[in-house]
Amino acid sequence: MSKKISLIGAGQIGGTLAHLIGLKELVDEVVMFDVASGIAKGKALDIAQSSSVDGFNIKLSGTDNYEDIKNSDVIIITAGVPRKPGMTRDDLLGINLKIIKEVADGIKANSPKSFIICITNPLDIIVMALQKYSGLEPNKIVGMAGILDTSRFRYFLSQELKVPVKEIESLVLGGHGDTMVPMPNYTKINGKPLSEMIENKKLELIIERTRKGGAEIIKLLEKGSAFYAPAASGIEMAESYIKNLKKMLPCAAYLNGEYGVKNLYAGVPVIIGKDGVEKIIEIDLSSQEKEQFNLSIKAVKDLYEVAKNIDKNL
Ligand code: NAI
Ligand code: 2OP
Repeated sequence: MSKKISLIGAGQIGGTLAHLIGLKELVDEVVMFDVASGIAKGKALDIAQSSSVDGFNIKLSGTDNYEDIKNSDVIIITAGVPRKPGMTRDDLLGINLKIIKEVADGIKANSPKSFIICITNPLDIIVMALQKYSGLEPNKIVGMAGILDTSRFRYFLSQELKVPVKEIESLVLGGHGDTMVPMPNYTKINGKPLSEMIENKKLELIIERTRKGGAEIIKLLEKGSAFYAPAASGIEMAESYIKNLKKMLPCAAYLNGEYGVKNLYAGVPVIIGKDGVEKIIEIDLSSQEKEQFNLSIKAVKDLYEVAKNIDKNL
């Protein structure tokens, strides 16, 4: 049966997502939605024109009409505005909450059965708001951050230890911010515990660099934030759902008592298969890891309180 992905937001990440979906022929059809319809249409056409060079065969279109996302298998959301000079974090939150309300209404009215992956920042709060505004099943709404953060941690380790990234397995949990929790105890290099391979001081520096990984790229780019690695991470989640791969992936999932957290989205390992988030995996945390995880949860909760002050309906 023919498969469709809709991308809400056709900016840097949205464009990269569409290109990757095309190159992988992940589905038969991609719809790019953006309030700036020319950008959505232009990028869809540009990527479609690359298909004769790269030899892929999918239908691509751009739109600003929510009806065009009907019957999507997967929807990936990157719609939002970046922080501009003079704008506070709370100003940004207010604007992106309004955008996500619009997006939630558009999805609910046109494609309520889709698996929805949210990428817009501040991630944990926006994905939570998306679920509240849409009222759709929490196991079909998930946030992308943990794969990206883990990927950065693995990359930095691979550079330090001079081993291919493929030989490193790892995990980063918690909220997508400075309090995220890279997990050295769940990190293995070719099956060997990380602690046997790296000095503590070097590890601490890599953990800190991972936590600030997004900011490092923003500083270099000057305009805009990372988009290649975020898009690749979103694709891994979409692929696990579409192909029912049942991969274990760190994602922002709705917690209903797991890890001692209730009614909040935060980064934990989940299984993604044809039913969406099929399972939340509860791994054992040492007392230090638990402390760090709880600190990260507190940061997410505090920001959610700010969101609730902006919109009492949350
Ligand atoms: P971008 O600014 O290039 O693209 C955003 C797009 O959203 C723009 O094309 C804009 O026209 C569109 N848009 C604005 N309002 C809209 C609305 N109401 N409906 C539909 N589209 C709308 O931004 P980029 O680089 O693609 O990043 C997107 C988001 O992802 C940002 O919020 C960014 O902070 C976040 N991000 C999250 C990461 C994560 O790990 N979760 C990693 C990197 C970025
Ligand atoms: C990132 O981690 C800014 O959340 C964005 O690259």
